Amino acid sequence: MQHQTISRDNIRIMVDRFYSKVLKDDLLADFFIEKLGDEMISDEWQEHLDKLTDFWASITLGDTAYSGQPVKPHMHMEGLQRETFEQWLKLFFETVDRLYSKEAADIFKTRSEMIATNFMRLLGI
Ligand code: HEM
Repeated sequence: MQHQTISRDNIRIMVDRFYSKVLKDDLLADFFIEKLGDEMISDEWQEHLDKLTDFWASITLGDTAYSGQPVKPHMHMEGLQRETFEQWLKLFFETVDRLYSKEAADIFKTRSEMIATNFMRLLGI
C-alpha cells in the first residue's frame, strides 16, 4: 500500500524496512553491525529505530521528540566514502518509493539528499 500521508506509524514501518535492507547490504551492513550488532530485535537496534522514527517525524511532521545530534556519530566512522552515501540513498529512495505516493516520497528524498550532501561536505569526501 502506498501512503499519501506521512504519519508516525508509517514512518516506523519505513524505518524498519530501510534498516532491514541496510543489514543485508554488502557496503553498508558493517558500519551498523559495528555500532549496533546484527540483530534488529536487540535493545541497541530498537533504540536506534525509535530514534530514527523521531528524527524523520521531526523533519516531516514537525514532531519535537528527536533531540539527538545527527551529525556527530558519522564524523567518527572510519571508511565512509561517497559511494557509501550513494548506496545509503539508493536503499532509502527504494524504501520510500515503495511505501509512499510520489509527493510524500519526494519529501523524504529531498531531505535525505540534502543531509547526506551536508555530511559528505563535513567529512571532506
Ligand atoms: C554512509 C551512510 C551512513 C551510514 C553508514 C550511517 C551509519 C549510522 C550509524 C552506525 C549510526 C548509529 C551510531 C551510534 O548509535 O553510535 C547512525 C546514526 C544516525 N544516522 Fe546515520 N548513517 C549514514 C547516513 C545517514 C544519513 C544520510 C542520515 C540522514 C538523512 C542519517 C541519520 C542518522 C541519525 C539521525 C542517527 C542518530 C544520531 C543520534 O544519535 O541522534 N545517517 N548512522
